[in-house]
Amino acid sequence: MKKIATTEVPINEVIAQRWSPRAFDSHYVMTEDSVKSLFEAARWAPSCYGDQPWQFVLFKKEDATAWTSALNCLSVNNQNWAMDASILIVVCANKNFNHNKEPNRWAHYDTGAASENICLQATSIGLSAHQMGGFDQDKIRNLSNIPLKFDILSCMVVGKSLDESRLSKVQKDKEGQVRSRKALKDIYFINEWK
Ligand SMILES: Cc1cc2nc3c(=O)[nH]c(=O)nc-3n(C[C@H](O)[C@H](O)[C@H](O)COP(=O)(O)O)c2cc1C
Repeated sequence: MKKIATTEVPINEVIAQRWSPRAFDSHYVMTEDSVKSLFEAARWAPSCYGDQPWQFVLFKKEDATAWTSALNCLSVNNQNWAMDASILIVVCANKNFNHNKEPNRWAHYDTGAASENICLQATSIGLSAHQMGGFDQDKIRNLSNIPLKFDILSCMVVGKSLDESRLSKVQKDKEGQVRSRKALKDIYFINEWK
């Protein structure tokens, strides 16, 4: 299903097409190359000092035991729809710079940029990504042995969103919600804070 952004001026097509569906094709299996292309896109994100503070943990639906364990770390509301996606990515950021071990106060910023690259790459190959803050950090840290020097920022699922014609009544209500944004004039000032 498509939900193209309504913009006040034209923007890049892929950015306009990206959105966060909650209805995925539960039978869709991603190719190895498409999975890799997501991380390749993340890899080319900019970062402070070129430090690349991001680290991802990948779960694939084909690996049923690991997949179920990862899903169990999500809030129940998220589990209900995320279970139909094809892969789940845990997004982590190294709190310290790799080059000098000092605290990296841009680690989250940089990892957010890498995450958006994943979302846009997914969109560009006809897939969809949905990021989630609703998960149990301790559970996922234990499950994947994520070191404490990494913050766990989000869990994200990627898969093939369902065509509108295949949505159940409940899904139609959820997916049909209008996408809204602040007005363009309200998100930036010129020269000084107003
Ligand atoms: C960091 C982050 C956390 C989010 N957490 C959740 C979540 O737990 N559950 C959910 O359904 N959506 C979650 N979302 C998706 C947002 O609700 C969604 O991006 C927002 O409503 C804008 O919609 P759009 O992505 O379709 O443009 C999250 C998004 C981000 C970036």
